[in-house]
Order: sequence, then C-alpha cells, then structure tokens
Amino acid sequence: MAQTRRAILKTGAAGVVILGSGAAAWSLTRAPVEAREPWSKAGTSFGDARLDALSYAILAPNPHNMQPWRIRLDDDALTVFCDLARLLPQTDPPNRQITIGFGCFLELLRQAAANKGIRTETTAFPEGEPQPILDGRPIAVVRFVKDAEASPDPLFAATIARRTNRRPFSERAVGPSALDRIIGASVNGVVAAGTTDNGRVAELRQMAKDAWEIEWALDRTRRESINVTRIGKREIEAKPFGLSLDGPMIEAIAAAGMMTPENMDIPEKAAYEQSIAFYNRAVETASAFLWTSTAENRRTDQLAAGAAWVRMQQAATLEGLAFHPLSQALQEFPEMAPAYDRAHELLAHQQGATVQMLARLGYADAPPPAPREALISKIDAA
Ligand SMILES: Cc1cc2nc3c(=O)[nH]c(=O)nc-3n(C[C@H](O)[C@H](O)[C@H](O)COP(=O)(O)O)c2cc1C
Repeated sequence: MAQTRRAILKTGAAGVVILGSGAAAWSLTRAPVEAREPWSKAGTSFGDARLDALSYAILAPNPHNMQPWRIRLDDDALTVFCDLARLLPQTDPPNRQITIGFGCFLELLRQAAANKGIRTETTAFPEGEPQPILDGRPIAVVRFVKDAEASPDPLFAATIARRTNRRPFSERAVGPSALDRIIGASVNGVVAAGTTDNGRVAELRQMAKDAWEIEWALDRTRRESINVTRIGKREIEAKPFGLSLDGPMIEAIAAAGMMTPENMDIPEKAAYEQSIAFYNRAVETASAFLWTSTAENRRTDQLAAGAAWVRMQQAATLEGLAFHPLSQALQEFPEMAPAYDRAHELLAHQQGATVQMLARLGYADAPPPAPREALISKIDAA
C-alpha cells in the first residue's frame, strides 16, 4: 500500500497516473469481490426452487441499484414487497422507475423458474394498485407450479452477462437489423422503437444532456444520488446497494482526497464538474437510441415496461451491444417538465402515452458486474 501510494502522481484536477508494478496488484485487491458474489452464486442450488429463481431475480436492473425488493416465502408461493426506505423520492416522485425495476425483477424470476420447468403464476398488486406512491401492500404474489410445458426463454442465457454500461461507445455503428431484433423482445402493451438516424440521434443526445444538467444542477436531486454513491471498495462492500464508483483510478483519486461526496456537491470542484463531463462524453458517443412507451401509466403498465426493459437489455447483450439507460428526461419532478414534455413530443407512440424508458445502444467493453446484496438478506420471515 505504501509503495503504491508513492507511485501515484497527481497530474491535474481529477487526473492521476499510477506507476509501478505494485499498482496492478493493488488494483486487484481493490475489487469489491464480496459485493459481486451474487452474480457467481446465481444458479447454484439453494435447496428451494423459489430461492434458486430469486438468485437470478436479484440481478435485475433497477434505478440507482437500490434493490428495493423484500421477499416473504409462503408455502409454494412468494410475496414481493417494496422496501419503502429504498425509494428515490426526488428523482422518481411517483415511484414509476422503482416499479419498472420490479417489472425487471419479476421477469427474471419468471425466466429463471421456466428454465427449471416451473411456471410462475403472478398476481400483481393483489391488494390493489398503490397510488400516487407505493405503500406497504404487496407488489406481487408469485405461485410456483411444476409444469412440463414451461419452456426456457432464450433470453435467459444473457442474464449473467447483462450490464448497464456507462462507458463511451466505439464508433462502430449499430445495424438496423440488430436494433429490430432487440425491439422484438418487448412485450404486449409496451411499444418499443429505436433510431440510428443521425439527425434524430443528435436531437436525442442533446435532450439527454440537457436533462442531465437539470438533474445535477438541482441540489435535492443531485444530493439524492450523491447520498447513495459508494466510493471505492470499502464503501461498496459495506453497502452493496446504490451507485458505485470503483476501479483503480477511482481508488487512487479517492485516496488523494479528491473524490468525496462533499466535493461532488460543490460546483467549482473537479468531482462535481467531472460528474457532468463523464456523462456528456458518454452520451456524445451514442449512435443509436431505444425507447418504449405505454398507452396508460398504471402500475401494471410500469411492471410490463420493466419486463420489456430487461428483455431488450438481454437481447442487446446477446447481440454484443452495450446498453445505457438515460432516464433523466422522463423524470416527473417539476423542474424537469420542459425536458419531459420534449421527450414525450419526440418519443411517445401516441398522444397521451407515457414514455417509460430511453437508452443508448452501442459497442463497448463490458464493465464488471454492479454490486448486489446477498439473497438471504432480502428474505423476511413469514
Ligand atoms: C427504471 C430504471 C431507470 C434507470 N435509469 C438509469 C439512468 O438514467 N442512468 C444510468 O446510468 N442507469 C440507469 N439505470 C440502470 C441502473 O442504474 C442499474 O440497473 C443499476 O445500477 C444496477 O446495475 P446493472 O444494471 O449493471 O446490474 C436505470 C435502471 C432502471 C430499471
């Protein structure tokens, strides 16, 4: 460690260079290994078909990686609840995005069970649809029924390799047929569309950047993200949910005292500016966009949007394509209204429809898997 510290040379505001052979070894020890364990444990037998399926479901994409699921096991069923301490009230006031995450979760649960010859019978919101925000009532009850005809879903093969990829994408163009196949993975009631048209791509890039600046410039929305950002291995292992910044470069900048939650919150600081610049650089490399909309915006539409979301992300994974959601313009806090209206003007499939998702697609190396809490920590006593 001491040797590595000596090997870090500051080269400017947020820049550092790591030298010396100790650095590579050090960076290996800085990987949050335990927080990534659920990815390798998925599919190992937990001695209960429901737990086996849940071990995949907890890998679902979900806003800010808050992993809001709580599970109660009852007889041959399970009940899914929302942990109300894991909501994002500033950036997601109606809990629409959180509900989409549950849709992703339930779709992976279905796929994992089907892969083992089990059909899931899902009753969404059995005690009624929570509006205008989620409450203590269940999100879904899922019964597990052995069924020789439950057939594996080909998309399931992409569950472990699926990633949210925030990296800049290469210049390699996304082919229209790959985009069509991804769009084809959506579900009934969720209208998916995409574009590789240069003019439209430029328009959507600008919209995404403008919306990100609105979210980051507002204290309460920026702080909501900063408050759940874990910087470096120690914090990630201690709290394996929320946004995570890891890797040797981050560890080095953090060790130099430059990457702190306080600095991320102060406009003149590099950590604040870099958060905008990092996003803008990534968005500028988008050469294809994908989005969905639903005619209505009931909780069940949001669950369907989640199923469509994870299925399209799995399909993108099978195509070798990176997938990066850009949700800011779809958020429902008042200051975002101009960007929200613009997004709906550009993307809604019909008048009055709700745009549920926007993502950029492209080619880039996959990042390591995002942290996950251990399955066992998500199960409550019946
Ligand atoms: C409804 C929803 C909205 C999301 N919005 C964004 C976003 O705007 N920007 C982003 O980088 N990731 C976004 N994500 C991705 C999550 O941050 C990601 O799924 C989570 O951090 C876990 O990482 P993983 O998908 O690699 O497992 C979103 C995910 C969901 C389900």
